[in-house]
This record gives sequence, C-alpha cells and structure tokens, in this order.
Amino acid sequence: MMTRREKAEQILRKYVKTDHFIRHSFAVEAVMRALARKLDPENEEEWGITGLLHDLDAELVDYMNFPELHGPKTIELLKSENFGNEKMYHAILAHNKATATKIGNSMDQAIFAADPITGFINAITLVYVDKKIESVKVKSIVKRMKETRFAAGADRLAMRSIEKLGINFQDFAELSLKAMQEISHILDL
Ligand SMILES: [Fe+2]
Repeated sequence: MMTRREKAEQILRKYVKTDHFIRHSFAVEAVMRALARKLDPENEEEWGITGLLHDLDAELVDYMNFPELHGPKTIELLKSENFGNEKMYHAILAHNKATATKIGNSMDQAIFAADPITGFINAITLVYVDKKIESVKVKSIVKRMKETRFAAGADRLAMRSIEKLGINFQDFAELSLKAMQEISHILDL
C-alpha cells in the first residue's frame, strides 16, 4: 500500500517533468511542513502535500495568456486522480492571485508566502561564490528584500504577508532557509 505522500509524489511526477518545477515543488513542500509544525502540527502532512502539488499544472497551462487557469487545471487533474479535498483545492486556487480566490485560512496564507520565498532563496543562493544553500545567511535574505531590483519577480508583499500568521519575516526567512537546507541534495543547491 502506498502512503498518501507517495501517491502525491507519483501524481506530481506524472504531470511535472522539468527539474525546475520538481525542485520547486519539493522546496514549497519543505517550507509548508516547517510552517505547519509551528502553526498546525496535526496537519503537517496535509500542508506538505498541498505544497508539493500546488503547481501540478505548471507545464500544462499557458500562464502568459491564461493565468487564471493556473490552479483550476490542477484541481481538475487532482479530481481525475481521485486525490485531495476541498481545503487543499482552495489553498491551491488561492496561491494564484489571477484566480481571484480569497485567502481564507492559515494554510491558504502559508502557501501564498511559501511559494515566492523558495524562488527568492534560490536566487540568493546563486549569487554566493560557492552557490551552496549551506552558505546562505538569514541576514542576506532580509537585506535582499529591500533590493527591489534583485529577483524582481519574487513578490515581496506575498512573502511579507506571512506576518498575518504572527510570524515575523526574519523568522520566516530562517525557517524557510533551514527547511530548504535540509533537502539541499534534492534541490541541487
Ligand atoms: Fe509555485
């Protein structure tokens, strides 16, 4: 019998083929698990799996022309796989502003902030001489937040919105960095 987590990874690998999105999915899972351990420990598995699957449709949706389909397409895929639940679907829709889905609960809010911070930490890692996530310091994440031209695509407001869950940005940066460092072999960083 496969675990729920194993089933989720099997679905991920069925629809997501590029290393870029596979790594991003694992990174968001790791940050979501770390946030859950702080905020909603009994649902860590659910938060993690939601992170893992949030971009399931990334390679199937024409995001430039139809950004509002990113999210709904994932729900369609998950339903066809008989996987997930309404809470998971809502968080996946809410992580994409273009779906105009309101952030309703802490899991929605968590993924909204966790998604951009993984790419941001990735970009910061790559400016280090050794390009190793092990070398990254929390203070450089905090400093780079103010440099709006650096990794301009990383949504500062979305990352900062973690504060609505009572976690200050520096603590969020530290928690996210540690979570990503723990899976550096998977992230190839
Ligand atoms: Fe994402």
